[in-house]
Amino acid sequence: MNLEKLPRHVAIIMDGNGRWAQQHSLQIARGHQAGVESLRDIIRESSDLGIHTLSLYAFSTENWRRSPAEVSALMALLLRYFASEIDELDEKNVRIRILGDKSGLPEPQRIAVTNAEERTRDNTGLNLCIALNYGGRQEILRAAKSLAKKAREGNLDPDAIDEAAFSDELYTAGLPDVDLLIRTSGEQRLSGFLLWQCAYAEFEFPSTLWPDFTLKEYHQALEEFQGRDRRYGGRK
Ligand code: IPE
Ligand code: IPE
Ligand code: MG
Repeated sequence: MNLEKLPRHVAIIMDGNGRWAQQHSLQIARGHQAGVESLRDIIRESSDLGIHTLSLYAFSTENWRRSPAEVSALMALLLRYFASEIDELDEKNVRIRILGDKSGLPEPQRIAVTNAEERTRDNTGLNLCIALNYGGRQEILRAAKSLAKKAREGNLDPDAIDEAAFSDELYTAGLPDVDLLIRTSGEQRLSGFLLWQCAYAEFEFPSTLWPDFTLKEYHQALEEFQGRDRRYGGRK
């Protein structure tokens, strides 16, 4: 794989676990479980390639609308994931960051993810962002409220609010904007993921369901990105 012009920030909407389970006549929870297997390879490869930031959409603010059985299967999987992966991630110098409203998570999950963030805080390798109870509009509203409060308290001149100041209030503060967004399963929508950060992202929509997504397809997406002409409104 050519390491030139790799994206600094890759975001992935890991979609298609439900359809995968259906195709294999399995329960939905087994689809999510299979999805975790794909995850492991993609994280390892991103770290090995020297990608700066990898953001994964794991659970949206809308996903609470699913059946209680599916939600609790996902929450249980989350706990198991952190318990089994944290040592290797830490060893690989990965820094974990949660995007989303952690206060809305059940207590064991909130504790597990907070511990993972704290344990890996000083790591300097791949920034691994996991979006949990995340909504892009919610994130933007939260930033707006925080700036408004600072202004009301007299700590901020509203005229000084620029893109950088706004970005600093987002969950992704300090991280680069998304360069490449991949959504598996053939759906072509953002479902609220990183709305602000994707302003100039390149998009890839492989039709593969997430549990079937391979390293080869990941490389294909990265290579496709390397061939894109990013103009940012200008002319070359
Ligand atoms: C994505 O897979 C995983 C989560 C939303 C947690 P889905 O469960 O949305 O899979 P489909 O879209 O039903 O196939
Ligand atoms: C987006 O997928 C959220 C995650 C992958 C975690 P969904 O499957 O929930 O999105 P919609 O409902 O198809 O837009
Ligand atoms: Mg889906």
